[in-house]
Amino acid sequence: VSDAGTPRVVRLPGYDVRVGAGLLARLAPLVAEAAPAHRTVVVTDANVERHLGEAARAALRPLDAPWIVLPPGEGEKTRERWAWLTDELLALGCGRDTTIVALGGGVIGDLAGFTAATFMRGVPYVQVPTTLLAMVDASVGGKTAVDVPAGKNLVGAFHRPALVVADPATLRTLPRAELRAGLAEVIKHGVIADADYLRNVVAALPTLLAPGGDLAAVADVVLRSVEIKADVVASDEREGGRRKILNFGHTLGHAVERLSGYALLHGEAVAIGMRLEARLAERLGVAEPGTAGGVSDALDRAGLPARVPSGVDADAIVAATRGDKKARAGLAEYALPAAVGRMAGAERGWGLAVPEPEVLALLREAAAGR
Ligand SMILES: NC(=O)c1ccc[n+]([C@@H]2O[C@H](COP(=O)([O-])OP(=O)(O)OC[C@H]3O[C@@H](n4cnc5c(N)ncnc54)[C@H](O)[C@@H]3O)[C@@H](O)[C@H]2O)c1
Ligand SMILES: [Zn+2]
Repeated sequence: VSDAGTPRVVRLPGYDVRVGAGLLARLAPLVAEAAPAHRTVVVTDANVERHLGEAARAALRPLDAPWIVLPPGEGEKTRERWAWLTDELLALGCGRDTTIVALGGGVIGDLAGFTAATFMRGVPYVQVPTTLLAMVDASVGGKTAVDVPAGKNLVGAFHRPALVVADPATLRTLPRAELRAGLAEVIKHGVIADADYLRNVVAALPTLLAPGGDLAAVADVVLRSVEIKADVVASDEREGGRRKILNFGHTLGHAVERLSGYALLHGEAVAIGMRLEARLAERLGVAEPGTAGGVSDALDRAGLPARVPSGVDADAIVAATRGDKKARAGLAEYALPAAVGRMAGAERGWGLAVPEPEVLALLREAAAGR
């Protein structure tokens, strides 16, 4: 375990991810160096503004940046908000020489990122993720998007940030449930790429979840997860192959998330999806025996849900996977583990089209508590 206050860097093609407690206070020079611009505009949400506004405004004072504060929530990640945001930027007199600072969770990152991707055909943006999920997942990889009535993230663009600044101290005010949801993606990173990391995360869970948190332990987790995601993304930025392994738990997870009417947080739904997909992998003979047990044990310890919510039935889940944007020729694709720490299917592009009867049988078994 390292000193939380010593900033560390993960280098991706085109940008750095800086991780360290206290980095928020140094935001102005970091932004000015990575994305120098005539105007800097901060986009955030009301929760983040309430908790971090004072510190962030003080830090950004040298840039004299106007703030645009949105209501919180996924419901804001829309084309309508995107259009409104672009009008706000124009009303502020912003031109091509503008840098956008996305201060918040994945909703703000995706929305402000998509705005940056399209405003004046693309202006730079700096991601300042303030949720664990945004630090280890949403802020890394250059995907931006908004939701549309037909589904989540269906309109978007690839647009790399100029810089990502992750300050674990900003997570102190994050609700526990949001922290656990972020841990689901952290556990995913261990399962798909690094069994030792998963062991370390599981051992550190009591510290990570303790009130107040242990910033050094959080910083270590953010750093390693970013490294893993960065490594996968760098090998396949536009998602033709290996990037699919990041989708572990998400084919069934997305279906359950949608069918729950978004009553589950994304990470909670992905936790359920990972348990089910690990079992599916064992059932298909793709994964070593014990893989599903290892996945479930880690998720149990993180306090993440185990069961599909009652009222969400197996047929509906399978039907929902057909609409997943990663589906090919109507048959849903799964990224499945070979063991804890290693994914299966390199030889077939990391995705496996699983016959629906297999999935149905598994879901019925799980629903019956077997
Ligand atoms: N672009 C990508 O590659 C990618 C990857 C994964 C997820 N995502 C997207 O990310 C979004 C989910 O992100 P999220 O889980 O961060 O949700 P979020 O942005 O809605 O944040 C969760 C909640 O925490 C609040 N919050 C944020 N920071 C806080 C802090 N420091 N203290 C207290 N409260 C705080 C927010 O106001 C919100 O209510 C989804 O829209 C998803 O599609 C994108
Ligand atoms: Zn996810």
